[in-house]
Amino acid sequence: MIHLLIVGVLVVISTLGIGLLLTGGWILPQQASQQAITVDWLFDLHFWFIAFFVSLICVIILYSLIVFRRKKGEKGDGVYMEGNQRLEIAWTIIPIGIVLWMAVIGGQTLADVERRDPDAITVDVVAAQWSWRFEYEVTTAEGVATKVVSDTLVLPRNQQVLLRLHSQDVIHSFFVPEFRVKQDILPGGEKYVRELRVTPNTNGNFSLMCAEICGQGHTTMVAQVQVVDGSEFESWLNEQAAECNLSDTECGQRWAQTFGCLGCHTTDGTTVIAPTWLGLFGHNVELADGSTVVADTNYLRTSIIDPNAQIVAGFNPGVMPQNFDEILSAEQIDQIVAFIESLSN
Ligand code: CUA
Repeated sequence: MIHLLIVGVLVVISTLGIGLLLTGGWILPQQASQQAITVDWLFDLHFWFIAFFVSLICVIILYSLIVFRRKKGEKGDGVYMEGNQRLEIAWTIIPIGIVLWMAVIGGQTLADVERRDPDAITVDVVAAQWSWRFEYEVTTAEGVATKVVSDTLVLPRNQQVLLRLHSQDVIHSFFVPEFRVKQDILPGGEKYVRELRVTPNTNGNFSLMCAEICGQGHTTMVAQVQVVDGSEFESWLNEQAAECNLSDTECGQRWAQTFGCLGCHTTDGTTVIAPTWLGLFGHNVELADGSTVVADTNYLRTSIIDPNAQIVAGFNPGVMPQNFDEILSAEQIDQIVAFIESLSN
């Protein structure tokens, strides 16, 4: 009886120690969404179960090893026991009960995380090798419906956002660790669009990371996420909805950033995935077929619209998205070319 009491006390102490250590808030990243609160609650509950069962098993084993070891002068084996029906029934029924209960609260948590808010705003997320693009439907002050495209995911705080996830090429995955929720993104058009709901509850800057190996540039497939006050979000959106009224070069730089060009093409002379843009314009380019062309306006425009037409020596065809003539307007393409040209001056 005294052994049982000591083991009981040790199990309680060990459970508290391990449990407090695991749920101390240092394992998981910052919590920045409504969904994260629910997810972390379930996580902590599991940690407590783990702490208890690890303690129960380890304390009993260690206690037996030490206290009931064969001492000096003792001979023979321990008492032989065969079966214990009550114990066996108990250790079958109790875990089954716990597992079923966990399935129920797991389902409840999932339902809670996926709860739909009819007032949710919608953002279309477009993933491509290897960039992110975010599209917002906006109605301007003049009542004109327009689309805002951004390379940063700006979200209002305390407002549910419905993210509609599109992929242009392969499977990617939307994951902001601080939001906890995550969803694979499938190619194949509207039929395969996946949805994810998140309600950011903390202002700040976070990183959206692709969580599915998607090729050479996977590790660079990161985008900024900014959570701001609702009013700040509205003014940002209206600002973005306005036409680009900068110079051609500056607008071109903005499009190159927004539409992911700079995810692969650098402007500092280094080669990451694709040829650098620094000093490209007006210079000779050696192509994979052995010929040489001058990187003029025409060459650059063709390379944006039909990237496989002229492959630069040392690079692979099929890496660059081939739908930029659908995504970009002719003006935007000209502005990007103007930006590339400016990098050779
Ligand atoms: Cu996209 Cu990894």
